[in-house]
Amino acid sequence: EKNKSLTGKKVMLTAGPTYEAIDPVRFVGNYSSGKMGFALAEELAERGAQVELIAGPVHLTAHHPLINRIDVTNAQEMFEACMESFPHCQAAIMSAAVSDYRPEHPSELKIKRSGDHFSLNLVPNPDIAMEMGRMKHAGQVLAGFALETNNEAANAAKKLVAKNLDFIVLNSLAVPGAGFMADTNQVSIIDRENKKEDFPLKSKAEVAKDIVDYLEAVLKKRETV
Ligand code: C5P
Repeated sequence: EKNKSLTGKKVMLTAGPTYEAIDPVRFVGNYSSGKMGFALAEELAERGAQVELIAGPVHLTAHHPLINRIDVTNAQEMFEACMESFPHCQAAIMSAAVSDYRPEHPSELKIKRSGDHFSLNLVPNPDIAMEMGRMKHAGQVLAGFALETNNEAANAAKKLVAKNLDFIVLNSLAVPGAGFMADTNQVSIIDRENKKEDFPLKSKAEVAKDIVDYLEAVLKKRETV
């Protein structure tokens, strides 16, 4: 029997990639599968939390009745869904791989091939996590992910501070079987005191348990101070 340790809590999640339209049939995107975010959603719901799952385009199904899935395509839509949902939540975990840029002027018609060079003008997307870090109030816990290829811990710690996160989950690309498309993951969690906890390589479902345990501990600490 599962203990329903998160009953009464509302938790927002972002998951998957975002697709930024170039024209009606093409986009700028990335290889994120959404598996880590969906594993987190299932784990949170199994513990009794009401989950707001804001999902980019993924080939996954959310099963638990406590999961309310909101599908979005691009970063701007994800941003708007988050702004609407976050004020009603006690915690948020930002696991989406949001495109940093989008085409400035997506074409209404399919772009035709020509023999010439072709260049695409890109403009920056909003940083959703950073905006939520600004609006976060004392009772809310905000967590993010970092996928780094070099100076991993230092870069993750920098993002933690810049986005006003309470903790950040570091995915290492250096570990085979970890990251974006795999069914397994190897993570470390870094907190505001720069304390780093390393977890072994395991299935994303098991990693989700570790992350939700960590979140629960942070929420509990908040309630007792
Ligand atoms: O892309 P970056 O490494 O800065 O992402 C770190 C964290 O910020 C992740 O949790 C990611 O989901 C979040 N993020 C976001 N909106 C963006 C970029 C990143 O919410 N535009």
